[in-house]
Amino acid sequence: MQMNNRWNRFVYRLWAPVYDAVLERLFRQGRRSAMEWLGLRAGERVCLVGVGTGADLVYLPTGVKGVGLDLSDAMLARAEEKLPIAGCDIELRAGDAQALPFNDGAFDAVVLNLILSVVPDPALCMSEAIRVLRPGGRIVVFDKFLPDGTEPTWGRRLSNVVSTRLGTDLNRRLGDILSGLPCEIVHDEPSILGGMYRVVLLRH
Ligand SMILES: C[S@@+](CC[C@H](N)C(=O)[O-])C[C@H]1O[C@@H](n2cnc3c(N)ncnc32)[C@H](O)[C@@H]1O
Repeated sequence: MQMNNRWNRFVYRLWAPVYDAVLERLFRQGRRSAMEWLGLRAGERVCLVGVGTGADLVYLPTGVKGVGLDLSDAMLARAEEKLPIAGCDIELRAGDAQALPFNDGAFDAVVLNLILSVVPDPALCMSEAIRVLRPGGRIVVFDKFLPDGTEPTWGRRLSNVVSTRLGTDLNRRLGDILSGLPCEIVHDEPSILGGMYRVVLLRH
């Protein structure tokens, strides 16, 4: 199944009430590492694309201004419950990660945690993230990827039939997503589930 926004809206409405209870602990280590590598400083503007239930918001340092954007009103309602974040100025907005409603260069940093494996067109999502970054700005990614240059095993293909219905694609390669885009990888580390998930820091 190809990912699409209509299905994502439906499936993440179902996930919203249980997402944190089921997945917060699993993703905690990778999420924390991603936010540490991003190294946000007071006064910086950050965009959290596909902010979901706002699980990343609690890792924002004091003094940051941010926008969390998501397609799902149900997920955003859960994120709203986490506000305010002490010392931060955070706004939540409904929108599509593939057509960000922000000006070019509007942010110092972008968080793409667990979204490139979810949006229908991850390269478009990445290119939008780069567009809204100022020159020299950073993007952090925490997500699962198929290793570059490899093909999924039959087992992984089969698992992906279920996984895409649950709202995430197992078989995307970061190298394909970044191909031709104006950014460089400055850090790439294996993360949870034996390195299936990675934490990657990029610079525009
Ligand atoms: C796996 S969750 C990750 C949420 C959050 N980033 C996290 O780390 O927990 C994927 C999120 O992407 C959102 N989403 C799916 N398609 C989207 C799109 N086209 N634009 C923006 N958000 C989208 C879903 O509603 C969901 O909240």
